Amino acid sequence: MKFVVAIDGPAAAGKGTIAKAIANHFKLSHLDTGLLYRGVGRKALAYSRTSYYPEVAKQLALDLKSSDLESSELRTPEIAEAASKVALIPEVREVLLDFQRSFANQDGGAILDGRDIGTVICPNADVKLFVTASAEVRAQRRYQELISSGHEIGLENVLKDVVSRDKRDAERTSSPLIIAHDAIKIDTSSLSIKDAVWVAINCINEKYKAAFLLK
Ligand code: DC
Repeated sequence: MKFVVAIDGPAAAGKGTIAKAIANHFKLSHLDTGLLYRGVGRKALAYSRTSYYPEVAKQLALDLKSSDLESSELRTPEIAEAASKVALIPEVREVLLDFQRSFANQDGGAILDGRDIGTVICPNADVKLFVTASAEVRAQRRYQELISSGHEIGLENVLKDVVSRDKRDAERTSSPLIIAHDAIKIDTSSLSIKDAVWVAINCINEKYKAAFLLK
C-alpha cells in the first residue's frame, strides 16, 4: 500500500515545515525536492560561467550525490537564486525526475514538497496541497530565518529575491509552478505553524483513511 502526498507552493510559504510535520504524523518518508535543485545550484556557482549551459548543468545534476544535499550552506539566498536558475533547464529537471519518482514509489508511499510535484512528478498523488502566502509574509519569514542563522541582509532585498524567484519559477516553460487542478489550496498568510499543520492534517485525514480502507 502506498500513500503519496504532493505539496507544492512558492518559496517560504511554509510547505517544508508542513511537509515535515505531516511526514512525522503519518509516519511517511519526506523529500524536500528543493534541496536537489539547491545541490545542483551550489555546484553551478562553484563551477564556471558555463554552468548554466544545458549540457554542463545536466552533468552537474548527474554528478549530484546524497552527501551534496546535507550541507547547511544550501539555505543561502545565493544558492536559492542559483537553484531557481538551474531549475529552468529541462535537461536538469529530466535528470532529477527519476530519483523523485522512485522516492515517491517506495513501499508505504511518501511526501514530496516542491514546485511541480502534483503536476509533473506525482500527477496521481493521493493528496495534493498547494501551500501559499502573500509575498510580504513569505519575505518576512525568510528574513527572520536568515537573520537568526547569522546572515546580514535587509528585508527589502529578501522581498525582491522572493518576488523574482516566484516570477522565474512560475513563468518558466519547463514544469512551472502552477496549482494542480485537483490540489487543495492552503493560504498560510495569517496562520500559525500549528494551525497550518492542523489544516493540512485535516485535509489529508479523510483521503488517508479512505485509501487505507479501500486498499
Ligand atoms: O523550495 P526551495 O526554495 O528550496 O527551492 C529552490 C529552487 O528550486 C526554487 O526556486 C525552484 C527550484 N525547484 C523546482 O524548480 N522544482 C522543485 N520541485 C523544487 C524546487
